[in-house]
Amino acid sequence: MRIPGLIDPHVHMREPGGEHKEDWDTGTRAALAGGVTMLLAMPNTRPSVTDRETLRSALAAAASKAHCDYAQNLGAGSGNLMDAASLAPYTGALKMYLDQTFGTLKLDNMYDWMRHARNWPAGSPLCVHAEGPSLATAILLAQVYNRPVHLCHISLRSEIELIRAAKERGIPVTCEVTPHHLFLSTADIPSIGLGRSEVRPRLSSPNDVQAMWDNLDVIDCFATDHAPHTLAEKNGENPPPGFPGLESALPLYLTAVSQGRLTMDDVITRCVTNPRRIFHLPEQPETYVEIDPAETWTFSAANTFTRCGWTPYEGYRMTGRVTSVTLRGRVVYKDGKILSTPGTGRNIRPALPE
Ligand code: DOR
Ligand code: ZN
Ligand code: ZN
Repeated sequence: MRIPGLIDPHVHMREPGGEHKEDWDTGTRAALAGGVTMLLAMPNTRPSVTDRETLRSALAAAASKAHCDYAQNLGAGSGNLMDAASLAPYTGALKMYLDQTFGTLKLDNMYDWMRHARNWPAGSPLCVHAEGPSLATAILLAQVYNRPVHLCHISLRSEIELIRAAKERGIPVTCEVTPHHLFLSTADIPSIGLGRSEVRPRLSSPNDVQAMWDNLDVIDCFATDHAPHTLAEKNGENPPPGFPGLESALPLYLTAVSQGRLTMDDVITRCVTNPRRIFHLPEQPETYVEIDPAETWTFSAANTFTRCGWTPYEGYRMTGRVTSVTLRGRVVYKDGKILSTPGTGRNIRPALPE
């Protein structure tokens, strides 16, 4: 069965500064193995991507290493208001952190939230990490400044119900849900392990997870929030939050399709059509993923391309598997092997001028 290449609008590549966790080579290999042919990379690297120079160096790493197509997002900082807007054409989106998570991009000052929401071009995507009460603030910013706002990784019943109400009132918000907020809950923490279960937003209650399924029509995108940290870090003293997700997401969706919990159309709408529209992404000609929807197999970190070396889905029985991926007419993945060379992936935004 042939489906379009997936678009993942929420991926952490870790380069620069966190290459021991992931880099543009391993991260985009993982993408292809998961049927993802285009992704947006988040800016909470070291240093964060917040200006022309840091954008340039992230794009240079991507250009030399990426196996799939991509854009690099810019981080909203307290000092980069004018710079940010001028870089809009060359970035995937502006990412604004209203709450604390991995990295240093959290904005504490409400004026910064207001200024960025007002200043960032309404025709360029704005994504927010906002949980609970800050999510309500993010929705208000969309309404007050009359601009689209994309709400990352929704995980709570209250959040999805508020988003439904906001959409019903015509407020221009869209949202995404991660596989770990659809397929895992607090009930899985003992088997995953306490430190390894750290993720932001946290794993939610079974009731919250049910709310995602009950409100599927409100969910615009599925996004992995692929956030690799090494197994040693996850097992250590101060485990950083985040799960790898690129290679397990499509198998989880296909398994849900095999169980009648999702349709193929649900998956393609949320993994291709909607992300392309929301983030203004180009079509990829002659790009598709061949899947065997019936193959049942066991997922294991031992067979993944991500550098992080673990998965919260170790030993999961999956039904449905990626057999090959074709990117712009070239077979780039087949039967568990990457066939592309680093640098095959293209920046889907215009090149940053010298
Ligand atoms: O769990 C998370 N990890 N949530 C985030 O928002 C950031 C991410 C990361 O970069 O590790
Ligand atoms: Zn986030
Ligand atoms: Zn993230």
